[in-house]
Amino acid sequence: MGKYDFVVAELAELRNQGLYNTIRTIEGPVGAWTVVDGRRVLNMCANNYLGFANDPRLKQAARQAIESYGVGPAAVRSIAGTMSLHIEFERKLAAFKGTEDALSLQSGFCANLVAIPTVMGAGHVLFTDELNHASIIDGCRLTKADRVIYPHRDVDTLRKFLAERKDAPRKLIVTDGVFSMDGDLAPLPGIVEVAEEFGALVMVDDAHGEGVLGSHGRGVVDHFGLQGRVDIEMGTLSKAFGVVGGYLAGKRPIMEYLRQRGRPFLFSSAATPADVGACIAAVKILEEGDEPVRKLWDNARYFKAQMADLGFDTGHSETPITPVMLGEASMAWEFSKRVFEHDVFAQAIAYPTVPKGQARLRVMVSAVHTKEDLAFAVNVFARVGRALKVIA
Ligand SMILES: Cc1ncc(COP(=O)(O)O)c(C=O)c1O
Repeated sequence: MGKYDFVVAELAELRNQGLYNTIRTIEGPVGAWTVVDGRRVLNMCANNYLGFANDPRLKQAARQAIESYGVGPAAVRSIAGTMSLHIEFERKLAAFKGTEDALSLQSGFCANLVAIPTVMGAGHVLFTDELNHASIIDGCRLTKADRVIYPHRDVDTLRKFLAERKDAPRKLIVTDGVFSMDGDLAPLPGIVEVAEEFGALVMVDDAHGEGVLGSHGRGVVDHFGLQGRVDIEMGTLSKAFGVVGGYLAGKRPIMEYLRQRGRPFLFSSAATPADVGACIAAVKILEEGDEPVRKLWDNARYFKAQMADLGFDTGHSETPITPVMLGEASMAWEFSKRVFEHDVFAQAIAYPTVPKGQARLRVMVSAVHTKEDLAFAVNVFARVGRALKVIA
């Protein structure tokens, strides 16, 4: 028996089940078109909603930040000081989100690991949507709080569960704002209402809401007009913002507490100056105009309408996220491979990212796709869809 037999067996099983994830190599900047595995392809799977990942204004801001602050923070902020750049970003982001304060973190995943286990502990109760993102699930797993998983977007059942645990000294409802694989929205007004009824805190993961929903892409809380009624907003800077990093935003006392007690904040170095500088530029662009947001939605509407006309099942998304539902993982991988052969990069998503039997291509349009690009993609989807008998 070799020491790694269990790993080899598990990998073979993944291959047998068609669940082995083959990661392609990107050989240049992420834009509408990208060089992937040596081939120039239309990129239809990045979360580059607004096209900021290769925006000259963000690149210039990153270069300038490197000139002023160097390439790294060289330590944890609470141990060796925090750069004024991070503070500037936190102030600008809080003003953009309409919150009292914000906290810059290294990634969105990390932000969930900062907020949930810091706020919640033994004897408390967490209420979490069954389709929440993995980073929320892991944040919940890191606490000693009880976990109550409520059915997807079901406020009536959530209310019943809250009533059953109404005497718990602390309760937190946590939900994705936009569910990342299906593109549907959390029923945030209903959630806030039941939270207020039972004195629960509310936290929303706005990873796919910022840059997409609300005025100038301020996010899901702004979209629903719930400013001041959501206790913790969590977000990522690696999707619409085009960079990398995460944040938490909310009332000052909560943010202050997270700065004092959030373990990934206290024990892990800050985001790099280049990242933070680029993010400041992204916020500035969005504050000054909503043109990229409007372009994104215009493209999304066009693409979805074309795909629906062809007869594809694109799920029940309410946002630019467009799942092309294909059933078994093997079909999704085959579909992805075939569209790639026709110069469209759209990655298959299968279990464990989505439930078994619900494999799909998660297709993403962006503000930098042209109508010609989208027509090209639709044409390729039609050809492959017919060849694989997904559509008639
Ligand atoms: C809903 C959601 N939350 C959190 C994250 C994690 O964000 P990041 O990639 O910045 O760690 C992601 C993305 O991967 C996400 O889709």
